[in-house]
Amino acid sequence: MQLDRRQLIIGGLGSLLIPQSGAAASPDLTLRPAPISVRWPSANRDLTGLLGFNGSIPGPEIRVRQGERLNVHLENGLQDGALVHWHGVRVPNKMDGVSILTQEVVPPGATYNYSFVPPDAGTFWYHSHYLSYEQVGRGLFGPLIVEEPNPPEVDHDITAMLADFRTTAEGGIDLDFSKMDDFSREGRLGNLMRVFLSRDTVRLGDRVRLRLVNAAIDRVFRIKLGGLAGAIVAVDGMPLDMAAPLRSLHLAPAQRVDVIGLVTSEISFDRIVGDNRTKLAHIAVAGRNPNPDQGPIAALPPSNLPAPSNPSQTIDLAMRGGAGDSEHGGYGSWAFNGVSGMPAEPLGQFWQGETAHIRLSNQTAFGHGIHLHGHHFREVLEGDRYGPLRDTLLVEAGEERMVVCVFDNPGRWLLHCHMLSHSADGMATWVEVI
Ligand code: C2O
Ligand code: CU
Repeated sequence: MQLDRRQLIIGGLGSLLIPQSGAAASPDLTLRPAPISVRWPSANRDLTGLLGFNGSIPGPEIRVRQGERLNVHLENGLQDGALVHWHGVRVPNKMDGVSILTQEVVPPGATYNYSFVPPDAGTFWYHSHYLSYEQVGRGLFGPLIVEEPNPPEVDHDITAMLADFRTTAEGGIDLDFSKMDDFSREGRLGNLMRVFLSRDTVRLGDRVRLRLVNAAIDRVFRIKLGGLAGAIVAVDGMPLDMAAPLRSLHLAPAQRVDVIGLVTSEISFDRIVGDNRTKLAHIAVAGRNPNPDQGPIAALPPSNLPAPSNPSQTIDLAMRGGAGDSEHGGYGSWAFNGVSGMPAEPLGQFWQGETAHIRLSNQTAFGHGIHLHGHHFREVLEGDRYGPLRDTLLVEAGEERMVVCVFDNPGRWLLHCHMLSHSADGMATWVEVI
């Protein structure tokens, strides 16, 4: 496998470039997942055992305008099944890429056509949804950017995908995906952390939009951005009502954050663990913008999701399991409401347009990033205020959090922990909108 010319080493820190599809929008494309090997910075040989879409990790950055139809032809080049899920996009149910609930697994060598009109502008991503803890953990993910009809003016719109990989001493991906401890604790954490960037230089004084995506299967990243004076304008692809101060970013698996800011020096991505900071990547400064835009950072145009009405029901979702807690039915280490693995009956049934509460109570010793397909929801905060629209909410050990959702997208939708090792080991259920 030839190293893609665009996958250049940036500095010594290991940032890699995301392949661009060339044109500003690519509403028709083929995605071909297949085994690949790549040579990454600070390595002297190819890393084997990876999987990539169209020969690269991440897969090509898909860009489409809001309201424009996206047609993706999936060609399965794996020796295993394939499915693609469009994370966070409120697709029609048939396009959701979920086995049993929405489609059959695409066998090796076979093809499948996905076609939908993304209803919301924002930062989304696509990833394998078949044996996803393994296939995403080996590289099957990529960015999906839905552009606003009139995007905010910036000098650069840069995607940064975070991920981690577990490698062996021999220099390949560790292909043992069956270690009990990986399933029953924090997940399969990788030793090799990467930030994949769509651009490697900026000018001082440039206004940039940075789109961060956590594509790691299990790792929660806390990131401090350096060199950018700006604000958070969106989370999980959905605009915030007001731009929020840029503090450190806490990204559970699958979560996204959009930041707009002015470049004040090299942009650095520092990972924070306790009091320690480690630099994961940077975007270098080359030159100076002669006309920096110092104007205020405005909120993005609001999404057009329906506002919640009075909730008709409250559904309880109790998380149990993990190392030391095996008091539940089903096959795996983790359980929702005492059942491990997909139940035959949905967790909830809703009439189309119905507003409901879900009470997420984490009775385990580990954090869980709870993800609902096909919808965004809001957290119900103190004083009956609502949090931002999200598709994935991190619920820390012992916490209880209430969310409200307008179930307006008909079909059968997965609700699972996006720590993919947890979901593979039982932390998954579904809801039905009729
Ligand atoms: Cu990111 Cu079930 O998905
Ligand atoms: Cu979990």
